[in-house]
Parts: sequence; C-alpha cells; structure tokens
Amino acid sequence: MASKLFPVSRASRALRQFPSSYRSFSAAPQRCSDVLAVHRNKPTNNPSLPFQFSDQNLKLADEILKRYPPQYKKAAVMPLLDLGQRQHGYTSISVMNEVARMLEMPPMRVYEVATFYTMYNRDPVGKYFVQICTTTPCQLGGCGSDAIVKAINEHLGITPGHTTEDGLFTYIEVECLGACVNAPMVQINDDYYEDLTPESIKTLLTALKDSANATNAGTKIPAPGPLSGRSTCENSAGLTNLQEPPVWNPETMMRKDNALDEQPQQ
Ligand code: FES
Repeated sequence: MASKLFPVSRASRALRQFPSSYRSFSAAPQRCSDVLAVHRNKPTNNPSLPFQFSDQNLKLADEILKRYPPQYKKAAVMPLLDLGQRQHGYTSISVMNEVARMLEMPPMRVYEVATFYTMYNRDPVGKYFVQICTTTPCQLGGCGSDAIVKAINEHLGITPGHTTEDGLFTYIEVECLGACVNAPMVQINDDYYEDLTPESIKTLLTALKDSANATNAGTKIPAPGPLSGRSTCENSAGLTNLQEPPVWNPETMMRKDNALDEQPQQ
C-alpha cells in the first residue's frame, strides 16, 4: 500500500527522472550480515582441512609474538591472521583455528576479529585482488572512478564481487584507501596504482595477466604509484610557490635581546 508521505506513483515518477547513466552509490553486490559473519563448511573451507604455518612463517610469527608481553600474546591475533592469509591465500576457518591454538584464545574470539575486518578474505580470491576505490574524491578526481569501474567491467568481463574464470582476478569496490590526492586509484594486492585512466587500468590488467601466464616474456608491469608520470603527489602543473629562497635577514627580522624591556611604558 502506498505511503501517504511518498506514494508509489510519485516514487516511480521520481526514479524515472534519473538519467540512464545513473549508478547507485555502491555497485558491489549487497553483502548481508549472514554472508559477512556466518561460516558455512565447504569442501575447500572446513575445519577438517589441516593448516600449519610454514617454517619461514613460524619464524616470522615468533618475531611478531616477541613484540607483546607473554600474558598479552593474543594481541598478535591480527598480524598472525594476516600472515596466515598471505600463506594460504585467504583466511580459512583452519587458519583461524590455528591462530587461536597458537595464541591460546577461544576460537570464537579469533572468528570475531576475522569477520569484523574486511581485509581478511574468508573465501578464496584471485591471484590479483583488485580493490577499486569508489568514494567521493575518487568519483570526482581525474576521469572519475565510474569510468574506471566501467573499464574494469569491460576488460575483465566481471562485475564487482566476482572472480574471473581463470582465477587470476578478483575485483571489488571499496571505500577510501587514503590516496585521494591521486584519484582515481586501485589497490592490487599490496600495491596502489593511481591517477588512473580507462586506458592505463586496461594496460595494467593486461600486463598482470601476461606476466601471470608468461605469455609475453617482455611484459613490464608498471611500477606502483601514479601512472600519469608524476612523482608521488606533486603538483602536475609544476612548482607554483616557494620558487625562490626565502628572504630572511636575522638582523632585521628578529627582535634583539631585551628589546621588550627597552620599550617605553604606556
Ligand atoms: S576517496 Fe579514493 S582513495 Fe580516498
């Protein structure tokens, strides 16, 4: 039944007025709380699958644990989950259980951490985990993140929240990653690529795919950072101020010792 305040006919008329290019604030598939917080056993992710840290990662885990007093070693839960994710590819239930065992924590406490922070992928992701920022500065900066989202959709043939059939790319939309000054940008695994254009993101994805498939031995993956050629976040228009050494004469610009005492009393 239509609400008195906002009848259906008015609502649908208002919606029809949006131009066809209208895109909702988030194009990523909705992730309801049961997807975010509930674990369901799968053949690839269930507690009967063993997980152990490699010898090298056990040494790293020891180093991490040394940062905390022994009675507070559960404070290492986040770096150890991260280490497990890096080794295993994602934070499976077995990774969480192993971290709980090492830190002598109830497994539920570890699950709470792993389900709260979105950086822990609790399902497998592709070799390249592409996170496109679509927060306002990235939507407005440069060509805008909408153009980058469209380019990635076209190039990979998938929409946000999905993985390509060859398992190389998983692609999601995320909120601000803190590189707004070089918008639009993506994070791919641990690297930021900034000042993107539809062409540069396609070139980057092609280079990553070629290097993974070794189809083109000469493929050069662009260095992380701005792909526009500028260094870090310097002004692309060049230096606009502080072009000359400051005029600074301590003789005339600094007050002499006791100068205040010599001022006549009002
Ligand atoms: S809004 Fe995209 S990095 Fe901040």
